[in-house]
Amino acid sequence: MNPQLVAHDLARAFNGVHAVDGVSFEVAQGETLSIIGPNGAGKTTLFNLLSGLDQPTRGSITLDGQPLAALGADRFAALGVARTFQHGRVFGNLSVLDNVLIGAHARRRLAHIGSTPLAILAELAAGLVRPGFVAAEERAFRAEAESILALFGDRLLPRLHEPAHSLSYANRRRVELARALAARPRVLLLDEPTAGMNLTETAEALAFIQRLQDRRLTILLIEHKLSLVMTLSDRVLVMDDGRVIAAGVPETVRTNPQVIEAYLGHARRTPPEAEDGATRAGPADPFAAWNVPVVNP
Ligand SMILES: Nc1ncnc2c1ncn2[C@@H]1O[C@H](COP(=O)(O)OP(=O)(O)OP(=O)(O)O)[C@@H](O)[C@H]1O
Ligand SMILES: [Mg+2]
Repeated sequence: MNPQLVAHDLARAFNGVHAVDGVSFEVAQGETLSIIGPNGAGKTTLFNLLSGLDQPTRGSITLDGQPLAALGADRFAALGVARTFQHGRVFGNLSVLDNVLIGAHARRRLAHIGSTPLAILAELAAGLVRPGFVAAEERAFRAEAESILALFGDRLLPRLHEPAHSLSYANRRRVELARALAARPRVLLLDEPTAGMNLTETAEALAFIQRLQDRRLTILLIEHKLSLVMTLSDRVLVMDDGRVIAAGVPETVRTNPQVIEAYLGHARRTPPEAEDGATRAGPADPFAAWNVPVVNP
């Protein structure tokens, strides 16, 4: 395997809480790696490190051999790492189209100059005088944004100019995914992309991710719905208390005694009503403990 993304000994502590504690893994181009684990295992914190939103206390990240860990989130994005957020983040007052165009901004021609004061001045000046290449770039971005939105069938295209806050929950999550794709990522990080979706929406999201896989996009997926994990993953990384407790192909991980113990332990630690009101797992089906209920908000 020729790794595209390599995380080595990544750690992040918050006032003594070891949210991520020595996580290492490699992902090959085109591979889908799922990251699973109980609530609080450190999955989102790991994504924050992998997307440059947060800096590790220790460890390194390389993308195609290039060190990333010390760079800011804008450089991660420009270098091809895009993400979506666990709780969904769209700009509610901006239109669907503008939300997606923001994603494209990560690779704007001027963005490549960097984020030095000079570069920022150059960007401001270009905005004021709109040289030809800026206008042409904007037209190309708009056409591309529309073609990305078309991937969602008629879910978003008819709502191109509607503010994102007026969309349904599932559509807002689709907009966020479209925005991530507009950055033309080499690596896409999806943090619970189907959380809060009903069965139909989840199935649609699964099919959409499969289409991204067909395009050989590298995907890191945090997901509580184990059926999705089993269907989509080439490999699975299981985290508990900030550490990797198992890694491998889905079926091996699923039957790993240590993983089952982690699930059972988590089920014991979590009061039934604390999370979501879902029925807690008994020993017969420990994995059900992590399932997010089917909700249509
Ligand atoms: N900014 C922060 N400040 C302090 N503690 C934090 C911060 N972010 C995360 N943590 C802590 O780090 C641990 C890991 O949290 P994280 O959100 O990464 O878990 P997770 O695996 O994504 O959980 P979930 O499945 O519930 O989304 C938790 O104990 C959390 O409280
Ligand atoms: Mg999380």
